[in-house]
Amino acid sequence: MKLSYDWRDPSLAIGAIDSGLGGLSVLSEMRKALPHEDFIFAGDCGKAPWGDRSDFWIQQRCQQIIQFLESRRIKALVIACNTATAAAVDLLRSTLPFPIIGIEPAIKPAAKLTRDGVIGVLATTRTTSSPRIKSLVDRFAKGEKIILMACPGLMDQVEAGDFHSSLTRGLIRSFIDPLLAQGADTLVLGCTHYPFLADEIQGIAGKSVTIIDPSPAVARFLKLRLESEGILASRPAAGKEEFWCTGDPSRPSRVLKRLWGPNAHMHSLDSAWPDLLRIPGE
Ligand code: DGL
Repeated sequence: MKLSYDWRDPSLAIGAIDSGLGGLSVLSEMRKALPHEDFIFAGDCGKAPWGDRSDFWIQQRCQQIIQFLESRRIKALVIACNTATAAAVDLLRSTLPFPIIGIEPAIKPAAKLTRDGVIGVLATTRTTSSPRIKSLVDRFAKGEKIILMACPGLMDQVEAGDFHSSLTRGLIRSFIDPLLAQGADTLVLGCTHYPFLADEIQGIAGKSVTIIDPSPAVARFLKLRLESEGILASRPAAGKEEFWCTGDPSRPSRVLKRLWGPNAHMHSLDSAWPDLLRIPGE
């Protein structure tokens, strides 16, 4: 698709999308790796979760949100969502000119780190049933036992800012106990919401279990890609972040302040870009 601007301008921002606030875990790694870049984060909090929706719905929704990001002029896009990467990254790459970086469950590093050859993957229903995850397992973990665990409800606890309640701990337990019972010594966080629950997951799994979050690797890869395209920001000043969400911004705004800091401000996407009120298939 032809853009109305030249995306090869190093001073432009990098867009990042997720179904909700989970992508902030990726954004925080990108901020560390790329201190001079500007980021525009868009979370579809009003329509989250995406994890049980169809590929077609997710593709349409990503395209709507990306149109907003294009209106703000971006030079690259990070799909800070495993579910959307599995459902839409191929389509988006075939239609958009700028670099698109996705995130996938870290099966390959897990296969290297596991001692006993048993790996649990915590992810959404859409990710655990996707052909992309099957292909990751076939390519990188043929000799290991990979247990894919769909965790419906877990992202909602993060969206609600409910990181440490007994309800959240109970849910985590219900998903990881069966993995531990089968001997998993490595757990892959295959949804960008789950790093915000990493302390609780580690506490329940115990110190001997290795937990892997692919976000730092995504941030490193993004940096390499910007360098190779010649579009790394060259300004000496610190970069800025802008945060947008669909739906009522009051709760996401409170959770954002807890996750990012008291000065972070959440903007309403529905008011700025009414196209997002049009829901795919409705
Ligand atoms: N944060 C998302 C992921 O990485 C999606 C969670 C959801 O919307 O179900 O998969």
